[in-house]
Amino acid sequence: MVVIKSENDIRIAINSIRLLAKSLDFSNVDMQKIIVAVSELTQNILDHSGTIGIVKFEAIGTRGIRIVVEDRGKGIDQLERILQGHKVYSQKGLGLGLLGAKRLMDEFTIDTSKEGTKIIAVKWKGKKFG
Ligand SMILES: Nc1ncnc2c1ncn2[C@@H]1O[C@H](COP(=O)(O)OP(=O)(O)OP(=O)(O)O)[C@@H](O)[C@H]1O
Ligand SMILES: [Mg+2]
Repeated sequence: MVVIKSENDIRIAINSIRLLAKSLDFSNVDMQKIIVAVSELTQNILDHSGTIGIVKFEAIGTRGIRIVVEDRGKGIDQLERILQGHKVYSQKGLGLGLLGAKRLMDEFTIDTSKEGTKIIAVKWKGKKFG
């Protein structure tokens, strides 16, 4: 588990996830997808939650990685619209990170309320080319 309270914590989390993906023999493409998704979700904690958060990750056997990103912040407003691909502009970015992260992962569940946000994402090992 890594506590996310600064950009440096995001780097620390990503380095650990990279090592886990490597140890499970994930392809570089899958590893990049996981890294981008985790970067976006953890950056959202810093940009939007109004508080700090955590990221946890674990192997699912030898074929998958489960990532949990959680904060006790203000929750995601207009989640429906965001997931439908409507850009919900903020001062902080383009409004594409959350949906992008969802598309990069194989399973993606979001639980958000005024008490905070918990996202559980899974990536399964794909075929390895080259
Ligand atoms: N952890 C969170 N807590 C509260 N609100 C969030 C959280 N994550 C996302 N949001 C809300 O969802 C919106 C969409 O997030 P998304 O990552 O897609 O876009 P963005 O962060 O605004 O821009 P980008 O990621 O493209 O830089 C954000 O603008 C913010 O309002
Ligand atoms: Mg974002």
